[in-house]
Amino acid sequence: MELMFKHLLLALLCGFGLILLALAQDQSGFISLDCGLPTNSSYSEPTTTINYISDAPFIDTGVSESIDAQYKATNQLQIAHVRSFPRGKRNCYRVNITSGTEYLVRATFFYGNYDGLNKLPKFDLH
Ligand SMILES: *[C@@H]1O[C@H](CO)[C@@H](O)[C@H](O)[C@H]1NC(C)=O
Ligand SMILES: *[C@@H]1O[C@H](CO)[C@@H](O)[C@H](O)[C@H]1NC(C)=O
Repeated sequence: MELMFKHLLLALLCGFGLILLALAQDQSGFISLDCGLPTNSSYSEPTTTINYISDAPFIDTGVSESIDAQYKATNQLQIAHVRSFPRGKRNCYRVNITSGTEYLVRATFFYGNYDGLNKLPKFDLH
């Protein structure tokens, strides 16, 4: 399965979650990605205890950025880093799936003035 970002100027994706079994209370069958989190990093988010891992193994493009400090205090941990896509018409996440299985994909987008330009980016999501 590929999630494509097309005609991307500066897009960012945070807290990307792939949910295999939506009814599961535990975290088996889920992967929760913190986009832009440094490679090999992970943490347990304190309020939800959801385990987030870096999105780095799932995508080859994009740039890791941090949101502006003024937004960090009031937002969840998984928003602190973002992945922006300054280059390429398409930037794709690649996740392993099982044929014939239904998946729920949930994504959160947050700008947080990571580039200091104070200008919301425009992008398409496929
Ligand atoms: C991530 O961890 C793997 C396995 O331990 C290691 O081979 C790799 O060099 C690490 N990457 C970074 C950027 O630290
Ligand atoms: C996806 O599956 C391939 C083939 O089994 C494996 O090499 C790869 O590490 C998997 N990728 C992830 C992100 O789990």
